[in-house]
Amino acid sequence: MNPVLANKQIVVGVTGGIAAYKSADFVRRLREAGAVVRVVMTDHAKAFITPLTMQAVSGHPVYDDLFDLQAEAAMGHIELARWADAMVIAPATADVMAKIAHGEANDLLTTLCLATRAKLILVPAMNQVMWENSLTQANVQALQTKHMYIWGPGTGSQACGEVGPGRMLEPITLVEQLSALFMTGSLSGKQVLITAGPTHEAIDPVRYITNVSSGKMGYALAESAIEAGAHVTLISGPVHLVPPVRAEYIPVISARQMYNAVLQRVKDCDIFLSVAAVSDYHCQSVASQKIAKSAEQLTLVLERNPDILATVAELPTRPYLVGFAAETDHLISKAQAKWTKKKLDMIIANEVGEQKGMGQEDNTVTVLWKNQQKAFATMSKVKLARELIALIAGEIHNGRSH
Ligand code: PMT
Repeated sequence: MNPVLANKQIVVGVTGGIAAYKSADFVRRLREAGAVVRVVMTDHAKAFITPLTMQAVSGHPVYDDLFDLQAEAAMGHIELARWADAMVIAPATADVMAKIAHGEANDLLTTLCLATRAKLILVPAMNQVMWENSLTQANVQALQTKHMYIWGPGTGSQACGEVGPGRMLEPITLVEQLSALFMTGSLSGKQVLITAGPTHEAIDPVRYITNVSSGKMGYALAESAIEAGAHVTLISGPVHLVPPVRAEYIPVISARQMYNAVLQRVKDCDIFLSVAAVSDYHCQSVASQKIAKSAEQLTLVLERNPDILATVAELPTRPYLVGFAAETDHLISKAQAKWTKKKLDMIIANEVGEQKGMGQEDNTVTVLWKNQQKAFATMSKVKLARELIALIAGEIHNGRSH
């Protein structure tokens, strides 16, 4: 029995690949760990392993039909999607990954993936050339952006006789990783305040000054902090992203609105992640009507916006402060200077520039705190957010200081 997995409700999805034979062992090990398992099989999976085998190891009839009235009477597919604490698709073929990445729902398994709020884990298994194909890789990236976990594949000899990446991870590894996933709770009970995205500083009713921040880094951090058990308040400038369902969401437009929203909420929070690319200036006066084209030159007088992070740093009781420094040059020295000037606990030096960091899917950062420094390889913002939250949680638990 594994105390973390005991009584956890796991849906195991099996799709049509030779690695499906490992699914039976995976289900057996999950039950040994104390989890309650329901198995969903695609039609192609049944060519590799029988529903009877999966029924025997899971102790329950297998679900395989979206329109099976008998199964729907016992537990409907929406109910099954709600029932799950986690859904693990093992093996996940290139085909099922493509379908899920594109939001298709033409069978029971893909419908469950769309209908669930549970942790969704895909365990790829396929020929190495299929895995490395740029279409598959684009799907992997899309799935990670949607906060799904991709575990593996392992590298080694394959059923097709080739050697390379594409092997399904071993059942024992999957059980260990699942257990670790449920154990995160590293920010359990913590209040986390996050700013994200750009701000808009009005020039006239139809024009504004802004930057190319997409909000992706801040939203990914919000999602990861929620995964780690925190209560998250997300104060966001104007972006085209859907806020995490479990975050308290406060949309703002300008830097001064963001400043007010932060100061109203910061006193109750344990950690403040200042990810927003806040405009340093606003227009001294905003034209009440659209400015018409006339003179050859137009001068806008800009005034400094308040520095939100520096203001929070001066509060008598301040949260653990994490700032970001987006720089095109002298990354570390400039970030170091901001860390000192703004009296932060941690700063994340973020490489930006043409096709780098701001507005992109991937990010490259170096974290500086106390006398330490850690450089992360370029990775998706979703993956990076999980790493950063783990690092911050570690610091919080070890005691904090500037
Ligand atoms: O949104 P994405 O497209 O995903 O891109 C993410 C990001 C690149 C915008 C993000 O990771 C990032 O680096 N954010 C900081 C942007 C920046 O340049 O900050 P700054 O160097 O101007 O400010 C330093 C710190 O002070 C930041 O934490 C900022 O939020 C904060 N600040 C700045 C100005 C201001 N008036 N108030 C502030 O709180």
